[in-house]
Amino acid sequence: MSTVEHRDLRRAMVETCRRMNELGINQGTSGNLSVRIPDGLLITPTSLPYERMGPEDIVELGFDGTYVGRHRPSSEWRFHRDILRARADVDVVLHCHSTFATVLAIHHKEIPSFHYMTAVAGGTTIRCAPYATFGTQALSDHAIAALQDRQACLLAQHGAIVVAKSFERALWLAVEVETLAKMYVHALTLGPPPVLSDEEMGRVMDQMRRMSYGQAPDPEGTNDVARPRSAGTA
Ligand code: 13P
Repeated sequence: MSTVEHRDLRRAMVETCRRMNELGINQGTSGNLSVRIPDGLLITPTSLPYERMGPEDIVELGFDGTYVGRHRPSSEWRFHRDILRARADVDVVLHCHSTFATVLAIHHKEIPSFHYMTAVAGGTTIRCAPYATFGTQALSDHAIAALQDRQACLLAQHGAIVVAKSFERALWLAVEVETLAKMYVHALTLGPPPVLSDEEMGRVMDQMRRMSYGQAPDPEGTNDVARPRSAGTA
């Protein structure tokens, strides 16, 4: 392994971390990011503010827990490693302490199907994993369980995790989770909000799959509601 490998991925990681701060979903030295590489992952270093982090500061970590780099890997390397090892459908893991997601997590509250967009994380709820000390195997085990069949979860008295195939999608999902959390916190001030049934959430998830909802427009036009107008048609 060499610390100068994967230059483009390293640059994309720095850019993604800075976007996290610009989008207001992270600050200071909280949060961390990883991406899959052959036999392991690239991960942000521990305790280095993103404004001061360059591509060469990113740490290369093997699935065996050994690392190469000028810094120690994020204190949360265990859940990054374990998620990427367990989930072939995931290439990027993003962790942040976005305010409203964390407010719910402080109360050990999951995000229910109070809004159809809860389904963007893959199910009828966005679960909240039980509390465990940061950086521990226990936290990683809780995160893996809370992420089962999901692309996002909250971590009690801590923050949130989102998983995705790309940096762009991970950022998008982290902002969606934070927006849902914000709406839910506000909705709770008027009393416990009604929730959509599992049956309706099933229809929402089917619709999202069919429309590739939340992804860049499909040039092949597989969206069954509207198709791009072909040349020559009025
Ligand atoms: P690191 O700086 O070690 O990545 O820790 C930040 C964090 O959010 C711990 O959960």
